[in-house]
Amino acid sequence: MTIQTKTASRRRVLKGLAAGAGLAAASSFVPARFAIGQQAKLRLGLMLPYTGTYAALGKNIDDALRLAINEKGGKLGGRAIDYVTLDDESDPAKGADNANKLVSGGKVDFMIGTVHSGVVMAMVKVARDTDTMLVIPNGGVGVATGALCAPNIFRTSFTNWQPAYAMGKVAAAEGRKTAVVISWDYAAGKESTDGFTQGFTEGGGKTIKELFLPFPNVEFQPLLTEIAATKPDCSYAFFAGGGAVKFVKDYAGAGLGTTIPLVGPGFLTDGTLEAQGDSAQGLETTLHYADGLTFPKDIAFRAAFKKATGRDADVYAVHGYDTGTLLISGLAAVKGDVKARAALVGAMEKTVFDSPRGRFTLSKAHNPVQDIYLRKVKGVQNLYVRVAIKGLADPATGCKMA
Ligand code: PHB
Repeated sequence: MTIQTKTASRRRVLKGLAAGAGLAAASSFVPARFAIGQQAKLRLGLMLPYTGTYAALGKNIDDALRLAINEKGGKLGGRAIDYVTLDDESDPAKGADNANKLVSGGKVDFMIGTVHSGVVMAMVKVARDTDTMLVIPNGGVGVATGALCAPNIFRTSFTNWQPAYAMGKVAAAEGRKTAVVISWDYAAGKESTDGFTQGFTEGGGKTIKELFLPFPNVEFQPLLTEIAATKPDCSYAFFAGGGAVKFVKDYAGAGLGTTIPLVGPGFLTDGTLEAQGDSAQGLETTLHYADGLTFPKDIAFRAAFKKATGRDADVYAVHGYDTGTLLISGLAAVKGDVKARAALVGAMEKTVFDSPRGRFTLSKAHNPVQDIYLRKVKGVQNLYVRVAIKGLADPATGCKMA
């Protein structure tokens, strides 16, 4: 079932909602367990960007989540699955409505989403208000596993601070003294550039200029002119998806690539290298994933993802896959009984497994504690260089788990 939200597809909207309303009516009389021992389907609500600058990210998360579950027989805790998908368009203004549609109309047992931090914020609010289980497979906004942390909210990806802080440390250790930071003007861009500045400052560097443009604009030229005039020792940029492709190309095109090294969190070059081509060669980034890791789990995952989709895995696919693994583990522990909430949450909290990125464990705030790798672009790969920071946990400021 797909819940349509675009006004252009009004007929399908109505159809989707009618179906949702029907299901809502039906499922309120259907207990999770049928008397004959058969169980109702588990409803997974995938709220992801299927269009726009983050579309490729959403697709990889969706495909890899299903891959993980299909590898284990296509069920969770013995229950077959209904996937309910909704395109959030990376639009924070529609976030709360969309999440409420999933919960009320879609009657989902879990919300899974999303990529854009602003939309994640809306999902967090709805999850808290309705006490719906939420797993965040990307968006790194700090408060989701900080001041707004909650037993029903989990994240399988990162906080914006984690890779950013590591890059600040690396850039300072490489002897750079000044930086310009540049990003989109929203939570992820702010938190990422702040994280970099923190690490960079701690290492003795100084951020001398902050440049922002509205999401998802890609009119970079005036800002690149400003970077050229400022002449910092390096530029730190947070962009992702289609915007990252354009930024890296424009940066090189402006002639800055050879004079002012460009660094960033790995999102700048993950899943984008084929499109970035020569412009990305040699770029250094930090992330909780890399090409050239030697974990058996990573090698198997990459082969399986390629076989299932025809595409190469990237960090977003890893987030989707690990979300699937976390669900498998949690629901196995309660045999598919989502009403056994305390046991479900307890099992998810304790879940430890081999992720393609390395060992997966969660902090008390439900965010991964993970190694951050330094990577360097060669060809179409973000090749592993070294561990920049081992076992990095987000500070989870303000998190008081109820
Ligand atoms: C975010 O909005 O938090 C975000 C989006 C795309 C990324 C990383 C973070 O690649």
